[in-house]
Amino acid sequence: MFMKMPFLNRRKKQGSYKLSNDNLPEHVAIIMDGNGRWAKKRGLPRVAGHREGMMTIKKIVRHAAKFNIKVLTLYAFSTENWKRPKTEVEYLMKLPAEFLDTYLPELMENNIQVRTIGQLSDLPEHTRQAVELAIEKTVQNDGMILNFALNYGGRAEILQAVQKLAADVKNEQMKVEDINEEAFSSYLYTYPLKDPDLLIRTSGEIRISNYLLWQLAYTEFWFTDVLWPDFDEEQFEKALYDFQNRKRRFGGV
Ligand code: IPE
Ligand code: IPE
Ligand code: MG
Repeated sequence: MFMKMPFLNRRKKQGSYKLSNDNLPEHVAIIMDGNGRWAKKRGLPRVAGHREGMMTIKKIVRHAAKFNIKVLTLYAFSTENWKRPKTEVEYLMKLPAEFLDTYLPELMENNIQVRTIGQLSDLPEHTRQAVELAIEKTVQNDGMILNFALNYGGRAEILQAVQKLAADVKNEQMKVEDINEEAFSSYLYTYPLKDPDLLIRTSGEIRISNYLLWQLAYTEFWFTDVLWPDFDEEQFEKALYDFQNRKRRFGGV
């Protein structure tokens, strides 16, 4: 499908930047943070922030696809988020169905493939069904991969990889001497996706909160104080622009 590139020259209020078509990240991971604070600032319940955050997801997915980003991995619910009040967790668990009900036609139109990472089996039945349906419906698409981290934790991911690997060693599917980085990666939820090139975190927190612990080894980090519901296309482009102007060395010179 032919996609027009958006205008790449953009004047910013403070100075200007020019995005080039080369050297864009292939895999962008985002920690979508700050929904609760966004709502609080407006005297609204936290869940209102999650609702607004869902609108931002739609906006950023559209925009990322225009830049031919290959994979967009969004942190939607962590293994630690179960600690939140029951009503908030219940609300969050309803959002995937709502998001997909209203957005699936557009995902199809834009040739986007929905995938997930995380322990889906521990999600409520209705949440899992909605997500599985979206994966199934978009499986033939070959455009951008929209990857939701749902009930995802980096440590849990590494542990389940170790368990599967140990089982494979035990039943002689794998030899201890063949365990290397590549082989280990193939046991992670993210296999066969390449590691993220760029990680964006909104809301001013400077931490990774158990996200993609193995995969972020050489990822470029980009932080903003903007709360996720306020994040927009222009800030996304700014992150891409900053990425393009970084020198990645991967330990070399
Ligand atoms: C991110 O926003 C969304 C999820 C973690 C599900 P938060 O809900 O963490 O918002 P803050 O950090 O409390 O503002
Ligand atoms: C990380 O945000 C998880 C998601 C965005 C889904 P949190 O708001 O849960 O992270 P902490 O608790 O501030 O580290
Ligand atoms: Mg938060």
